[in-house]
Amino acid sequence: MRHLLKLEGTHEAEARQILSLAKKAKKARGKATAKGPLAGQIWALIFTKASTRTRVSFEVAIREMGGVPSFLSAAEIQLGRGELVRDTARVMGRMVHGAVIRTFAQNDVEEFAAYARIPTINALTDDEHPCQILSDIFTFEEKRGSIKGKRVAFIGDAACNVPRSWAAAAKIFGFHLACAAPKEFQPVQTGKHVSWTEDPAEAVKGADVLYTDVWVSMGKESEAAAREKVFGPYQINRKLVAKAKPNVLVMHCLPAYRGKEITADVLEMRAQDIFDQAENRLHTQKGILEWIVSKPLQKKG
Ligand code: CP
Ligand code: NVA
Repeated sequence: MRHLLKLEGTHEAEARQILSLAKKAKKARGKATAKGPLAGQIWALIFTKASTRTRVSFEVAIREMGGVPSFLSAAEIQLGRGELVRDTARVMGRMVHGAVIRTFAQNDVEEFAAYARIPTINALTDDEHPCQILSDIFTFEEKRGSIKGKRVAFIGDAACNVPRSWAAAAKIFGFHLACAAPKEFQPVQTGKHVSWTEDPAEAVKGADVLYTDVWVSMGKESEAAAREKVFGPYQINRKLVAKAKPNVLVMHCLPAYRGKEITADVLEMRAQDIFDQAENRLHTQKGILEWIVSKPLQKKG
């Protein structure tokens, strides 16, 4: 059985399969199709945190693929009153065909998958946001060609879920992730594919992508004032964009906070690309879902 629990440790061939299914899904959108790959299936969306893009893209993707989504806010099921993840999982596994989970602890998604024994997708945890970054790579390659050998500059909180999945992707797809972040928010690991500097200008030099995420991730609201102070210099603005390659792709996973991690003018100037990036979440979710429900090819011999 297949799951998508994190990008860390994913093989390039699997990730490439998802991207090619996403490409097909984007091309085929709106065309009448025979029975979809999720026909007869009900998928639970169990969300402990807020979501616009991930929730809507999965709900639409599941429906357009012939299935039925069932959105369950964790606060409204017994999970929110302390029922264990493993018990919730054992119930769900007997009733629905797959689960898409957004929560805090990575371990909760992994435990759910182990106990539910149904295909399970990580729709964001504190550790990773694999669906987002697969979709972002899809967007980059659609607009600029292969990401192999390219330089992605991440500006902001380099310790949170989005850059952590970018770091895993850098290893899988063979590009460099240059993070600019304050000391307290440096990447969890650096190495051949991931570097860290405190200087945004250094990170963006020669960059093909300029990427940012919110300064205050979900669950970190009590740190908002302190974070805004330390992240002040880590903003995507015109001056920083001018230091990257002339055809740099400015990306943002959204939601955006204008005047914080990105200026209003850069966001509006680059809105076409940034909202194409958001749209691609839908096509990539389809790629992920189709990959998950299709049987792995049997090796011959
Ligand atoms: N980028 C992203 O995951 O957006 P949502 O939080 O709206 O799902
Ligand atoms: N790092 C952000 C991503 C939002 C899509 C968060 O976890 O809130």
